[in-house]
Amino acid sequence: MVNLRLGVNIDHVATIRNARGGEHPDPVRAAEMAAAAGADGITAHLREDRRHIRDHDIERLMGEMSLPLNLEMAATEEMLAIALRHRPHAVCIVPERREEVTTEGGLDAAGQHNHLKPFVSRLADAGIRVSLFINADRVQLKAAVSLGAPVVELHTGAYAHAGDAKDAAKIDAEFQRLANGAREGFALGLEVHAGHGLTFDNVTPVAALREIRELNIGHFLIGEAIFDGLPATIRRMRDLMDQARAPKREA
Ligand code: PXP
Repeated sequence: MVNLRLGVNIDHVATIRNARGGEHPDPVRAAEMAAAAGADGITAHLREDRRHIRDHDIERLMGEMSLPLNLEMAATEEMLAIALRHRPHAVCIVPERREEVTTEGGLDAAGQHNHLKPFVSRLADAGIRVSLFINADRVQLKAAVSLGAPVVELHTGAYAHAGDAKDAAKIDAEFQRLANGAREGFALGLEVHAGHGLTFDNVTPVAALREIRELNIGHFLIGEAIFDGLPATIRRMRDLMDQARAPKREA
């Protein structure tokens, strides 16, 4: 059985810290706790406006943390220079609009082919594993292949929002889209990840998709940690993912 990795996104530890402008709570401490609780990697999004993770956090994560870092960033020259300076294990290229609350949709890898190509190449040349955060569409999957990205992360936000709205037909349609995307991506030779809006309530069907190698989860884990603590929250998510992946027993 192929292991399903859990990447814990620590952005919102930094959001809380930044609300008071001091040092607490420390995202690096959260990263170490996540490692001890069963996370396989840490994800952090360095936004242009530095609203959560900041440059110094990336420096500390790279210097002090035991887990591999997946740096989410927009395809800009500023971010490329930062990635090449720190050389994280992976970079996930995401679309970024300054006014958005969170990353609202996938990257248009097909439409932005010429813009993205040098970013993918320069990151890959530096030995960084490049991932593209895309919607689960065939056109985008093929564009990832033609760009030479070894990894895609499928945007699970529409599936998660359908669940929040309790819209059963939409949950089903969005889930099918993810399942098809995971299958097609895998068949195209891509390593398939997924993330955005995943919770205890909606993670199981996504985790059960065998073509998916990694889930990146942040906001829910950090929010739930307020009630149950970060280690217990991560352990429970890890258990749900492992149970979803466990071989089914014959009746
Ligand atoms: N994956 C990517 C590429 C993201 O941009 C985000 C949000 O920053 C996540 C995963 C995690 O989403 P959430 O915080 O909703 O779990």
